[in-house]
Amino acid sequence: MNLRAGRLSKKMNDEAAYYTSSLEFDKRIFQADIDCNIAHTTMLKEEGIILKEDAEKIVQALNELKSEGIEALDLDPSVEDIHMAVENYVTNKIGETAGFMHTAKSRNDQVATDLRLVLKEEIESLKKDILKFMDKILDMAEDHADTVWIGYTHLQHAQPTTLAHHLLAYANALKRDYQRLKDAYKRVDMNPLGSAALTTTSFPINRRRTTQLLGFSSMMDNSIDGVSSRDFIAETVFALTMLCSTLSKICEELIIWSTHEFAFLEISDEFSSTSSIMPQKKNPDVAEIARAKSAIMQGELNTILTILKALPYSYNRDLQEITPHLWNAVDNSKEMLNIVCDMLITVKINKKRPLEQANSNFSTVTDVADLIVKEKNLPFRVAHKIVGRMVTSAIKEGIKPSDIDSEFLDIISKDVTGKSLNLDDEMLKKALDPYENVKMRNVWGGCSPEAVNKIIHKLRVYIKDQ
Ligand code: ARG
Repeated sequence: MNLRAGRLSKKMNDEAAYYTSSLEFDKRIFQADIDCNIAHTTMLKEEGIILKEDAEKIVQALNELKSEGIEALDLDPSVEDIHMAVENYVTNKIGETAGFMHTAKSRNDQVATDLRLVLKEEIESLKKDILKFMDKILDMAEDHADTVWIGYTHLQHAQPTTLAHHLLAYANALKRDYQRLKDAYKRVDMNPLGSAALTTTSFPINRRRTTQLLGFSSMMDNSIDGVSSRDFIAETVFALTMLCSTLSKICEELIIWSTHEFAFLEISDEFSSTSSIMPQKKNPDVAEIARAKSAIMQGELNTILTILKALPYSYNRDLQEITPHLWNAVDNSKEMLNIVCDMLITVKINKKRPLEQANSNFSTVTDVADLIVKEKNLPFRVAHKIVGRMVTSAIKEGIKPSDIDSEFLDIISKDVTGKSLNLDDEMLKKALDPYENVKMRNVWGGCSPEAVNKIIHKLRVYIKDQ
């Protein structure tokens, strides 16, 4: 079937044909295109718009193509796109009758429908992978509810926490990434078929029927919108970009934590490389590549949004250029998700080191200030000042946090307020102990093993309910 035989007399310039062809990235919508054609043809038959025997011949040829696979198609760039390649196949099989399947249908509504059908499946599979990752993080958190970790703000020691608590920060971020995809899915799951080129058709088609046959939840209410909107792609790619940003942050932490300076964990050999000259090296190349590849997502999102910006209604061929960026974003995030999951769950945790860090650099002294407030009923700002001074002089005099006692604290207190505090040494020791710090933070969302276990349970239930 030569589309150009009517209006155009010359064949397209070869380079221009190659330049404008979408065949390469249309391969992904091959199956969906057949399904879309079968649904449309079935509906045309049921509504009496085309003859039963013609429809049956068309559907039979389409089913044959389905079993033969994409290799059965002529994918020469001059064919333009997958829709023409499929139609050509049917024409070769059954002759001119094939032309009936294009009644009341345009490639404009067809491509929008195909993209939505495939993207729905991709989102479902990505959603499953996110839940799997969350589940594995929860297993790991369960094993580390008592593993003291050091929490940072400004990448400076802040307060002790547990590895489980930190892992739950990942799990909750992933939950939101999951929810964003789930939400985007609703707007992907709308059927544009029947919009035809842009204004629907004068044939009495049944859009409800194709919506049902293709398994869409609803049909689009405006045909101009149907053929020209790609915000469903933009928002899905945003959700995936955000997901990859979460994953990239995890990679960044694995890179930092596996350094000799931190030595909180070791990345498994399976996810490490070495140097061609320095025999001692163990490098976190996988995490680095993943961190860099998350940047691709931002590029794809930006490209898509920029193509969409200021396009006049309705269909413009520019829309075709969104497709390869969509697939790249889907593939890139899927790969990253699975690699980061496997890399994270196979790390070897060095429990000693974060505990040492939590013990050695005054990360527990917020609790000393809190203790002063609780025991002596002083305003927090006064307690903050006393403890700040206490840390400065401890550092100056080389006193370790574990050596601080009430006597030392009172020298500072007298200097700041003119009065001693006379705190109980036992209480002070407890306030300065990282694990006691952790246990005391029993607030919802906090780091105590009890609080952490509640959230693990909540997330387990959430995953089960999906
Ligand atoms: N390959 C096109 C795309 O991906 C299909 C629609 C072509 N429509 C047209 N009027 N040229 O958008």
